[in-house]
Amino acid sequence: MAVKSPSERVRELLIPSAGEAAATAKQPLIAVAYTAAPALVTFCAVIGAYRLGRAAWVVADAFNRHVLRKPHDLYERYAIAGKDSWVVVTGGSDGIGLELCHDMARRGFNVCMIARNAQKMEEKLAEVSAECPDVKTKAVAFDFSKLTHFSDYEEIIGESLKGLDIAMLFCNAGYIRTGPFIGLKPYEIESSVTINALHPFYTTKVLIDQMANRAKRSAMVVTASGLAHLAVPGCTDYSATKSMASFLAEGLNYELQGRVDCMAWHNGKTATKMNGLVADGKVIDAEVAVAGMLRDLGYESLTYGHKAHAKSMFMVTNVFPVWKLKEVFYNGFKKEFEESGGDSTATARKLAEKGRQAKITTTYGWLNDSMVSTSSRPDPLTGK
Ligand SMILES: NC(=O)c1ccc[n+]([C@@H]2O[C@H](COP(=O)([O-])OP(=O)(O)OC[C@H]3O[C@@H](n4cnc5c(N)ncnc54)[C@H](OP(=O)(O)O)[C@@H]3O)[C@@H](O)[C@H]2O)c1
Repeated sequence: MAVKSPSERVRELLIPSAGEAAATAKQPLIAVAYTAAPALVTFCAVIGAYRLGRAAWVVADAFNRHVLRKPHDLYERYAIAGKDSWVVVTGGSDGIGLELCHDMARRGFNVCMIARNAQKMEEKLAEVSAECPDVKTKAVAFDFSKLTHFSDYEEIIGESLKGLDIAMLFCNAGYIRTGPFIGLKPYEIESSVTINALHPFYTTKVLIDQMANRAKRSAMVVTASGLAHLAVPGCTDYSATKSMASFLAEGLNYELQGRVDCMAWHNGKTATKMNGLVADGKVIDAEVAVAGMLRDLGYESLTYGHKAHAKSMFMVTNVFPVWKLKEVFYNGFKKEFEESGGDSTATARKLAEKGRQAKITTTYGWLNDSMVSTSSRPDPLTGK
């Protein structure tokens, strides 16, 4: 029996018998389908091949990133021999930023933290020095929610770091308050904008000449978030401001190629005081998260970091429809908000309590860390 071509089979499906086929002369729609069948088959085959090719590329790329490719030796790539090279980490006094400070000191870089609480930075830097006695350390006290003009950045950050050889900059400080936009307090929206969006732009701008005009290439990483990937209802301000920060790194990676490696980090759930979570596989420790991100530095303009987070982002970008993601996120954040009495500050307190349980052995209580404020504007956590 002769083997039928795909288009013949499609024709048969559309028009099961020759008798019916004859009748199609009087049925223009079927006649068109009959004529178009070969083109339809070719079209579907091309689309299918494209989708398959894309899927194969995603798998091959993931295999390369997570298994084959060796991370750069960051000291060799960015430090200048014989010169004191510095790494600057905003939000370096806790969580992911603190882990970055320890990691960079172990590699031989001097470390500069920028955060709000000067005393806390001193204590954390003492821990860094205890582990790596040869590195120099520096703290710059700066509250990104209160100092919001470029001139503030110039006067405090620019002046404090003048003349230093800045090899790497991590714009990492961040802020989240979830809940329906209409229920968020104005200062919470303001904190999202100033901390998540303005701070990476202004810090980078104030240091970029120093970094782009060194004798060696430098690096800049923005800790954005997986939530920057789409407009996420229930934390619209967070996803929007993180997306703005992410674009900064991606755009500059092109503008400054060869001089500054810039990368956006769409990080996933990490066990820190920000969310009070405990590492459980999907939620990972700061140390694991940082290693996952650094692996891609110098190769990519955007990373999801560790494979646990890359897997979740694969589902977000390739599997779930956007409308479903929006529904799930919004319902989750709204429920959390409502359970806390429609008060986003109370949600924060609830998270803080979880954080206290998770971090009960640390020197600091989460509330103490987060309540340090330097002006009369309400504290984002307490609302007072
Ligand atoms: N943890 C996660 O699951 C997760 C997921 C995705 C993305 N991220 C992002 O990762 C980054 C680090 O988060 P984390 O979880 O490590 O947070 P964290 O443990 O709460 O640490 C926050 C750090 O930022 C500093 N900071 C906060 N507000 C500041 C302000 N107004 N001015 C200056 N410094 C400020 C804090 O310093 P002080 O104590 O001095 O205030 C602290 O050093 C953030 O950008 C966050 O959005 C986190």
